[in-house]
Amino acid sequence: MPSTISLRIKRRDEPDSEPYWEEFELPYRAGMNIISCLMEIQKKPINTKGEKTTPIVWDDSCLEEVCGSCTMVINGRARQACSTLIDRLSQPITIEPMTKFPSIRDLRVDRQKMFENLKRVKAWIPIDGTHNIGPGPRMNPADQQIAYELSRCMTCGCCLEVCPQFNDKSDFIGAAPISQVRLFNMHPTGKMYADERLDAIMGGGGLEDCGNAQMCVEACPKNISLTTSIGEMEKEATKRMFKKLLGS
Ligand code: SF4
Ligand code: SF4
Ligand code: FES
Repeated sequence: MPSTISLRIKRRDEPDSEPYWEEFELPYRAGMNIISCLMEIQKKPINTKGEKTTPIVWDDSCLEEVCGSCTMVINGRARQACSTLIDRLSQPITIEPMTKFPSIRDLRVDRQKMFENLKRVKAWIPIDGTHNIGPGPRMNPADQQIAYELSRCMTCGCCLEVCPQFNDKSDFIGAAPISQVRLFNMHPTGKMYADERLDAIMGGGGLEDCGNAQMCVEACPKNISLTTSIGEMEKEATKRMFKKLLGS
C-alpha cells in the first residue's frame, strides 16, 4: 500500500475564470474515498508546494451513491466521489468537474439543465396528495422489475457527460430523461401523461437527436439499460406518430 495519496485537482475560482491544476499529497489511510480526501484538504488546505490555499468546493449529500450530487471526473471517468475508493485508482489521481454543465467553482457544477429536462418530459406521477387515496394500483412483477431498474436513476449526469450529442450547443435532453419517460409511461397512474411525454421526446432535442453511440449505457453507474429505453421509446413514438396521422 502507498504511504501517501497524490491528487491533481482541476480548480476554478469563478464561473468564467481560467481553470488551473493544484496538487496535494495526503497521508494514506485504508478505506479512504475521494470525498474523504477532499475533506482532509478542507481541514488543512496546503498544496504540495507547501502553500496555503483555499479549500476545494464540491457538492455531496447522501454519501452512499444515491443522490448523484458528488459526480465528478476521476481519472478520466465520470463517477461518484463518495463511492470511489482510493485503493482502486492509479496515482496521481486526477479530479475534474463534469464538463457538460456550467462550472460554478472548483468541482461544483450547475446541473439545473438536467432537472429542467426532467420537467420537460413530466417525469413524475400526477397524484393528489391532499387526502388518502388508498393503496396504489398494482403492477405485474415483470413490469415492477423493469420499473425498479429504471427508478434507480439518481440524476448523476454520467450518461450526459459521455454523450457526444449532449452539449451546450445542442438541445438534446440525453438518455436519462428518455429513460424516465419509459418509467413513468409504464406506471398505471403515470400513463395519464403518456402522450404528452412522448410528444416532448418526439420534437427537437428528443429521440431524433440521439446518435445511437451507446456510450451512455456503459457510463451509467446504476447499470440502467438506457439504450433499451431509447429503443422502446422510439417504438412508442412511432406508434404515437401514426395515431396522430390517423387523427386518433
Ligand atoms: S445512445 Fe449515444 S447519442 Fe444516444 S443518448 Fe446514449 S450516448 Fe447519447
Ligand atoms: S441514467 Fe444512469 S448515468 Fe444517467 S443520470 Fe441516471 S443514474 Fe446517472
Ligand atoms: S454524495 Fe450522493 S451520490 Fe455521492
